[in-house]
Amino acid sequence: MADSAHGEGFHPLDFQRLERTQMLERAQEFRRDLECRRSVRFFSYEPIPEGILDECIRAAASAPSGANRQPWTFAVVRDAALKREIRLAAEEEERETYDHRLTDEWRAALEPLGTNWEKPFIEHAPALIVIFRQAWGQGEEGERETNYYTQESVGIAAGFLLAALHRAGLGTLTHTPSPMGFLAQILGRPENEKAFLLIPVGYPTADCEVPNIGRKTLDEVRIEY
Ligand SMILES: Cc1cc2nc3c(=O)[nH]c(=O)nc-3n(C[C@H](O)[C@H](O)[C@H](O)COP(=O)(O)O)c2cc1C
Repeated sequence: MADSAHGEGFHPLDFQRLERTQMLERAQEFRRDLECRRSVRFFSYEPIPEGILDECIRAAASAPSGANRQPWTFAVVRDAALKREIRLAAEEEERETYDHRLTDEWRAALEPLGTNWEKPFIEHAPALIVIFRQAWGQGEEGERETNYYTQESVGIAAGFLLAALHRAGLGTLTHTPSPMGFLAQILGRPENEKAFLLIPVGYPTADCEVPNIGRKTLDEVRIEY
């Protein structure tokens, strides 16, 4: 390998330079594919083929993170008894949320989605991926290490994961049955791991429907300077 300009600990970037037409084609293909992603709330029991989830989790774990702390854990839950336990705990929180915690404004915002406290999809989906945010790290001797920008880092990794799962041909729901403390408890996670998202994953049912909701246009979301 050629000498590194920065000395030991560096190596040349593996970067592929593309022609404009190829750049545009790839950007469009990716955009069109991502635009087809929808949150799925009706899952079939059909199992996910071997190896797919691990590939998608590898993609998520390649995300950038503050000071490269990689402050995430992806818990894959396929066990039926655990899924049931998680469903029941989530429904307990969601019942409380829908009955008492939602403001009128929040209730109105959720109305077009047709959601309620019942979460059968947590049991129906063949797998749940629970993303945990490591609020702090554990050193080799168990000592506390500071993690940086954990919310941002795990948010980016979650985006990578949702995109990878969609690209692999799977349906997902980005679910936040808050407060989500029950997830660390049921899954026996250490004190530094805070549940970030609960993602049911699998194939949508043949008759799965999604709400007719729109997305903002480019002009609404982009400002050019
Ligand atoms: C941070 C976050 C939390 C969400 N929490 C829930 C949830 O708890 N339950 C649910 O049914 N959908 C949840 N959603 C899904 C949104 O309702 C959905 O992404 C939005 O309505 C847009 O629809 P789409 O994903 O089909 O494009 C959540 C999405 C995000 C990004």
